[in-house]
Amino acid sequence: MKNKGNKISRNAPCPCGSGLKYKRCCAGKGAPDAMDVASFYARKYNIRLKNKADVEGIRKAGRLVMETLDLVEAMIEPGLITERINSLVHKFTVKNNATPAPLHYRGFPKSVCVSVNDVICHGIPGPYALKDGDIVNVDVTTILDGYYADANKSFWVGTPSAEARKIVDVARESLKRAIAMVQPGNTIGDIGWAIQTWAEDNDCSVVREFVGHGVGFDFHESPQIPHFGRRGQGIEMIPGMVFTIEPMINLGGNSLRILRDDWTAVTRDGSLSAQFEQTLLVTENGCESLTPFDL
Ligand code: MF3
Ligand code: CO
Ligand code: CO
Repeated sequence: MKNKGNKISRNAPCPCGSGLKYKRCCAGKGAPDAMDVASFYARKYNIRLKNKADVEGIRKAGRLVMETLDLVEAMIEPGLITERINSLVHKFTVKNNATPAPLHYRGFPKSVCVSVNDVICHGIPGPYALKDGDIVNVDVTTILDGYYADANKSFWVGTPSAEARKIVDVARESLKRAIAMVQPGNTIGDIGWAIQTWAEDNDCSVVREFVGHGVGFDFHESPQIPHFGRRGQGIEMIPGMVFTIEPMINLGGNSLRILRDDWTAVTRDGSLSAQFEQTLLVTENGCESLTPFDL
């Protein structure tokens, strides 16, 4: 049963994901019958729904993120020093009256994450020169007029090996399948299920330690969006939610370790890892990407 308007129907499945009817679950535990869905999600999950003006703000930030990623993509070639990606992202962002969210975030030293080969995420740009056959992920988060948008892509450098081709293709398709699950009434578990199923059916593995996240007013908001899970489990999606999906998929096992810089996450077995990320809005009928690109 679907909820009517912005009120939770007493006979609808409880949005807390318990599987019980709302009236047999949270309705009796402090959520007034007529409590609107927005306050329920705020109180129970700390999820802040976005209104029209908020969405327009995040969409604008998202456009800038995508322009930035397009510029980066055009410069990817063997010999490129990853610090050059950082300086381009930093300068382009600031020139557009925006702020690169990663810089000084919890001590992160650069304006963008650049993750090569077995680096899963949070790679720090530096003196490394990309070489033919590498894969490189570039993760851009931009703050424009107070709104955050977050997206990343993985690229092949020069001519990819069969392995490099495979891991990037599996990661890309897993995000595509995950986005297809985003609609009111589906759950956060449906998203993780779609990713995990695709990755594991292709003999790849899903990283557990890093997850997608609510985004917009802040870099990382509630809820967490795991990239693994079971159909029908977890919080039900409702219009106005904005979150990222950003599956990190490994060619080998899913264990990781963090380098001595306290940031760089690498696969324990040294296998390749790839990732794609978009910022998504749940709409009345489905979803809209606020950082759109073809998958
Ligand atoms: N952009 C990453 C994400 O998708 C977070 C990077 S945190 C940083 O959530 F400090 F490394 F930038
Ligand atoms: Co993110
Ligand atoms: Co990101």
